[in-house]
Amino acid sequence: MPGRFISLEGGEGVGKSTQSRALAAALRARGLEVIETREPGGSPGAEAIRTLLLEGAGDRWTAEAEALLFAAARADHIARTIRPAVARGAWVICDRYVDSSIAYQGGADGLGEEAIRTLHGIGSGGYLPDRTLLLALPGEEAAAREAARDAGKPDRFGARDASYHAAVAQTFRRLAEANPVRWRIVDATGTAETVTARLVDAIEDLA
Ligand code: TYD
Repeated sequence: MPGRFISLEGGEGVGKSTQSRALAAALRARGLEVIETREPGGSPGAEAIRTLLLEGAGDRWTAEAEALLFAAARADHIARTIRPAVARGAWVICDRYVDSSIAYQGGADGLGEEAIRTLHGIGSGGYLPDRTLLLALPGEEAAAREAARDAGKPDRFGARDASYHAAVAQTFRRLAEANPVRWRIVDATGTAETVTARLVDAIEDLA
């Protein structure tokens, strides 16, 4: 029986990384094989591209070049890590996926959703998760958490302004509302344990 592919999405500071780990642990406790991965990255080639994307000056890449690099990293990640794991029956938990490209490069950078979907079609045959979990926080709370975490050293994306991050959040919400079969919007306020329990509930029908 094939496994399942689950992605977590949201803006900076919503707790995706912590929650990816916790969700993976909850599924392992049920005896499932779980692979935790992330984008950009998740395979040796994609991790090399990650360094190109996250380090350096804010204007290092044009928006178009950046979108192509994310799509290239994703193509490698899917071919080498995600598809083989799902084929052998593992559950894959991925911290960010193509919806991040739609929200950041497509929405906030203005390349448009269709352009990103076209790149994803070329790179990865349009491969999509069985479920995408949107961790949702009020904007001010996310900014405060992010500031505490990065202590003044955000990456190339975290350093962009409030209107950029608002456009990201708005695109995620629009995508989630448009496709309630694949997406669930999960309230990211409250204790980490409470949020993990909400995430487990939001994938129960896949088990
Ligand atoms: P990361 O350190 O993983 O950030 P976070 O903890 O916020 O998830 O860095 C990933 C950054 O790359 C993040 O700012 C979002 C951005 N990004 C895109 O712009 N497009 C994409 O397709 C992906 C996967 C990430």
